[in-house]
This record gives sequence, C-alpha cells and structure tokens, in this order.
Amino acid sequence: MNHFDTMKTLIIMILPILSLCSGQQVSNETSLDQKVLLLLSRMTLDEKIGQMVQVDRRYLSNDNDIKQYHLGSLLSGGNGGPENNSPTGWADMYDQYQRIALETRLSIPLVYGVDAVHGHNNVSGTTIFPHNIGLGCTGDADLVQRIAKLTAVEVAATGIDWTFSPCVTVPQDIRWGRTYEGFSENPELTAEMGKAAVLGYQGSDLKDPLTIMACAKHFLGDGGTSWKTGDNKYIIDRGDTRIDEERLRQIHLKPYIAALQAGVGTVMASYNSWNGFKCHGHKYLLTDLLKEELGFEGFIISDWAGHRGISANYKTDIIASINAGLDMIMVPGSLEKEEDSYEHFLEVLKESILEGSIKMDRIDDAVRRILRIKFQLDLFDKPFADRSLLPLVGSPAHRETAREAVRKSVVVLKNKDSIIPLSKRTQNIHVAGSAADDLGMQCGGWTISWQGDHGPITAGTTILEGIRATVSDEMKISYSADGIVPDGTDVGIVVIGESPYAEGHGDDAELNLSANDLMTLKNMKSAGIPTVVIMISGRPLMVTEYLHDWNAFMAAWLPGTEGQGIADILFGDYPATGQLSYTWPRNLDQLPLSKTNLHDEPLFPFGYRAP
Ligand code: BGC
Ligand code: BGC
Repeated sequence: MNHFDTMKTLIIMILPILSLCSGQQVSNETSLDQKVLLLLSRMTLDEKIGQMVQVDRRYLSNDNDIKQYHLGSLLSGGNGGPENNSPTGWADMYDQYQRIALETRLSIPLVYGVDAVHGHNNVSGTTIFPHNIGLGCTGDADLVQRIAKLTAVEVAATGIDWTFSPCVTVPQDIRWGRTYEGFSENPELTAEMGKAAVLGYQGSDLKDPLTIMACAKHFLGDGGTSWKTGDNKYIIDRGDTRIDEERLRQIHLKPYIAALQAGVGTVMASYNSWNGFKCHGHKYLLTDLLKEELGFEGFIISDWAGHRGISANYKTDIIASINAGLDMIMVPGSLEKEEDSYEHFLEVLKESILEGSIKMDRIDDAVRRILRIKFQLDLFDKPFADRSLLPLVGSPAHRETAREAVRKSVVVLKNKDSIIPLSKRTQNIHVAGSAADDLGMQCGGWTISWQGDHGPITAGTTILEGIRATVSDEMKISYSADGIVPDGTDVGIVVIGESPYAEGHGDDAELNLSANDLMTLKNMKSAGIPTVVIMISGRPLMVTEYLHDWNAFMAAWLPGTEGQGIADILFGDYPATGQLSYTWPRNLDQLPLSKTNLHDEPLFPFGYRAP
C-alpha cells in the first residue's frame, strides 16, 4: 500500500466520526495529516479544484468569486497592490478577501502570496533591503537569515502569508535581466544564502505569527538559458537551458536541496525549458526528481500563467502541467481575454478530470499538499492580519539591519593609493551623477512597482543624503547631475548605473554604461581631480576601457532604501568586506560564464575585492 492508499483507508475509518463541522472545528483535530484528510474527504470536486487556483487580485471580476469558485489563493503580482498602498491599506485588503473566503461552505482560508524579494517591496514605507546579488557579496548567511526574518515580520504585519522568495537561481550569463535576483553565479554560495533565507522567513514553526512561508524559485535551470536572437532582438529570459543532467544537477539543483533541508514550504516552477522541454510540463523534474527523489512534501506553484504554451493547445497545457506535478496554478486571470480567465481555466480543468485525462488521485494529492500548508500556517485559527506588528514596518531597527547589509554588500574593486576611505577632513567633495540622488534607482526593479522607477518612490535615504549625513559640518558637499565641478573641489564622487528593470525587460546584449553616465564621467575627468566611481546596478557592466581614469571603483549593486550604508564604507566608519559573487567580465566575449575560463582572465574574478 502506498502512502496515499493508506490515507484513503484512514479516511474511510474516520468518516463515521465526521460531523458537519466547519474547517475551523476540523483544525482542532490532533494530527496534521488527519486534519487534512478529514477536510479533503468532505470537499466536492469544485471545492478541490478551486483550491488549486491562484488569481491575481486585479483580475477578480468580482470579489465574491472567491466564494463562488472556492478560490484557494490570491496574489498581488508586481503593480498588484491595493489603492491605498500603505501597510494598513494592505492589511485591510487582505482581511477583506479573507472574510469572503471564510464565508465558503467549509470556511477554508486563502493563502495570499506576494513577491517580497528584498523586503516587503510592493508596499510603501517598508524597509527595502539590497537585492540578492548584493547579499551574495556579503557572504554572510547569518545576515541573510536576519533580513528574511525582518521581512517576514513586515509581510506578516499586512496579513500576507507567503513570499515568492528566495530566488535561488544560479545565473550563468549576466546579460539576463534577472541576474540581480540571484545571490551568485556559484551554486554553493547560492545554496548557503537560499537556505538562510528560508530559515529566516519560515522560522522553526510556521505557526509563529512572526513567520511567513517561503518559495524557492524558479525550478529548474532558470539561470542557464542561452542567449539567442529572435525578432531582431536578443532574448534570454524564459529561454532554453541546454545542458546535460549532470550539469543541471551540479549548477542549478544544489540550492533546492539546501532549501528543502531548511523545510521550504513551496517551490515555483520555472518558465524556462530544459533541452527544449518546458519545465512547467516536465514530469521528470517536478514529480520524479523534486517530489519523489528529493521528497518534497510542500506544493509546487506555477509561475505567472506558466502552464500556458507547453503544448499547442490550452486544454492539453492544463492536463500536461497538472499531470507533470503542478499543484497550484497562478492562472493569474484576465479581465479582457475570456481564454485567460480563471473561470475558463476551472471549466477546462473540471472537464479534463471528468473525462479522465487527469486522475482524481493527482487532484487529491495537490489539494492535500495545499491544505497541509494552510494548516501549518495556522490560517484556520488565525486567518486575519496581526495588526500589532504594523509599527515594526519600516522601523528604525529594521532599517539599521538594511544599512548593515548595504555596507557589507559594497565591493571595492579598485582603490589606487588607498584613496578610500576618504578623509573626513577633505574640504570640498563634489558628488555627481543622477544616480547619486535617486532612491528608485538604488532600489531597482520589484520595488513599489513591478519594473521599479526613478525618484522618491518610497521612504529612504539616497546615497547623496547618506554622504551629507555622515560628514562633519565643515565639509562642503556640492552636487550636480552632470559632473560639472565647481572650482576648489578636492575629490569627486560619481554615481553611475542602470535604470530600474525587472525580468525580461532587463535583458541586455551590450551591458554598456549609459550615454548620460559617460558624459558625467567625462565632465568629471576634465576637472582633473581624484575620482571615486560608485556603480548602482543589477550586474557587472562593461567598464574595462574607463577604469584607468578612476582612482577608486565600488560596486554597490541595488542597495535599497538605506543609502547611508555606502557612506559608511566611503568614509571608513566600517571596513569594506564585500567580495564579488559574480565574475566581472573584461568584455562580452567572455559571456556566458562557461566561456570565461577558455578566454583571457576576467576583469575581476569571482570572490574578488581590491587589496
Ligand atoms: C505582474 C508581475 C508578473 C508579470 C509577468 C505583471 O503584470 O504584475 O508580477 O511577474 O506580469 O509577466
Ligand atoms: C515571475 C515570478 C513572480 C511572479 C509573480 C513572474 O512573472 O517570474 O518570479 O513570482 O511573476 O509576480
């Protein structure tokens, strides 16, 4: 008898003791599996398939559809927050949806997911931590765990139960727009950091009100896709990872093994294909490898409409992906296209089950996994936001940890004549570059909006403000966006970098400095003063031909809201300890990573920091 048959027998044995109790009462039962099975045994097919659907709240045609379709989950994707984007606005939104879910026959609460990938980043006023690329450079797993723990508190304060994080991708080509979502190109470092993040989010017991559920993503091989030309442009995001199984396991699987050891509750399937076959329909990867070989007991969520396009047709997409092992589908919905709606999805899913294309066992297994997590999260007993946590959102203590992360993530790559730390007695400093005073830019994508934006998008400290707050009153700090330096300046600091982007929007074939930055650098150079260059970016950019002009060069990645962490390093209040978590190529011929060793030396190797 397999595990599932045993459970079926158990249900038959305990059926007689089932009274018409609600999900709430069921939650008082003793063992987790028993509770799950009791509830499952009382569910209709419509109730079961509803649990398997996650809808983006923007695409709910009507809030009461949560009840009508027995929806199991909602998400707020990027740009998907409530109109009142404050923490209280989110808590109100969450509670309102949860109230509707609890009106269903079995009162099964929703599980609500967001991309809290560097803090509770969709919500105004929260603490925004450095993106993963910077955290990888800290090499400090304890710090990553603490950050995830604080993020969990900020997320839990708004009611939300689940973050689609950590991203444990192992990017092998920095031209990919999601490079910054990965801690490192190195599987071991990624595994260590990813594990720490899971432990931080989930704690030792998901029932703890200060924890949320984590999601390791994107399974499997998202960071290994090949760069190819299509429709006159380069594409790498959602592409094909062409490697043999041994390499797939060596590079991309390791972080999942670590995340599973840490007890990660969910895993997100990846948009990419493996040797031409889409992961969302890959039974070998999702079921044979993840669930059976690695013993994953949580549930697999699809990526955003990731079930689409596996085959030539919508219905076979659904059948193939669920049979492959997807448990919950991020549909995510549509207000315009009937075909993309959850209503249509549910109709086709039901039809596929009734005609026998998807077996009831598969559905029961998926729903069992989902309900298990809901019980583990204590959602039946504590379905609403814990508003006592709201004062902690964006609190000084949380921001202090973010600042610590910023200074530990900065990597000093060049420091001629030890110009850094700058003397606090330097009389006149000129700070240049629009990135020096742009909070949105230093936060990057996945901040307030999906793609991120320039300007004062939330509360925080820009790099310029951080510098001003650090130096004494006798120092004169002037600023220009274009690098035209006033007479009498002793030292120049130029902050350059990338405009915010997320996902495929950040795929970039050139990795060049912008024309604007080049102009600022040129203006600064003509002043003939020592210059420190700070780069705000989601990955290494090509600087080989300019580096000799700069006395010092620091990579600050996407540091988030606490820009003062950069001044902490610039003026020597703390030592610079960050080390490269990605190789810095000398030129584009060295990409992807697998080619680097075959050519000449990179500009800076993995693990580098200036002596
Ligand atoms: C959503 C994002 C999502 C993306 C997928 C956007 O509209 O807001 O969260 O990742 O679509 O393409
Ligand atoms: C992204 C995921 C994200 C999801 C929800 C997708 O487009 O690939 O990383 O979790 O959208 O926003």
